[in-house]
Amino acid sequence: MRSTIWDERYGEAGFAYGKRPNDFLASLEIKPEGNQRVLCLAEGEGRNAVYLAKLGFEVLAVDQSMVGLQKALMLAQENNVKVEVRQADLSSFKIQPDSFDGIVSIYGHFDATTRKHIHREALQALKPGGFLVMEAYSKEQVKYSTGGPTDEQMLYELTDLDADFAGEINFIIKRKTERNIVEGKYHNGTGSVIQIFGRKQ
Ligand SMILES: C[S@@+](CC[C@H](N)C(=O)[O-])C[C@H]1O[C@@H](n2cnc3c(N)ncnc32)[C@H](O)[C@@H]1O
Repeated sequence: MRSTIWDERYGEAGFAYGKRPNDFLASLEIKPEGNQRVLCLAEGEGRNAVYLAKLGFEVLAVDQSMVGLQKALMLAQENNVKVEVRQADLSSFKIQPDSFDGIVSIYGHFDATTRKHIHREALQALKPGGFLVMEAYSKEQVKYSTGGPTDEQMLYELTDLDADFAGEINFIIKRKTERNIVEGKYHNGTGSVIQIFGRKQ
């Protein structure tokens, strides 16, 4: 797989988005009920995957950047937990149906075709009752300099996600909000985000 700007970013010293989990994910205080598997999409250096593994979930972290995933493995080792990693391009990634109890997507920004593909795959991979957690920058993020894509086509609106998950997810949280983001050196300041937490029907 070709090298990306992500390989370069993750090749820098330290952790681009920090070692602590995303604030929205942590705020949900999700706990495993027995032996449960979670898939972390576009998981980079693994901060969310390691957090979930520490809670007792079995975790698979997928990203296109092997440089990021190597750091995810290091972070897991540092925390004495196991995380499985897989290098893949999510634009063509296939996920076994009915195979995950949870899917987590934090700042996974894609063009509309990839976004629709991966959300379709995520939906059919979730078991009934399985949870979906997502935080991503909204289209309003172009007004801020917190971080995130500068190309509006890679930013989302609630209507996009409503359309992607229509009729299949019972939303517990579904909102666009502004929040102060302090997540590593690449996400800092006030930002406009979309937050979703729901369960598959
Ligand atoms: C802003 S980072 C978020 C990393 C991680 N979720 C976090 O919150 O720390 C976005 C990630 O999306 C990944 N990514 C972007 N496009 C991708 C694609 N088509 N397939 C797989 N990963 C992709 C990048 O490699 C990068 O790690």
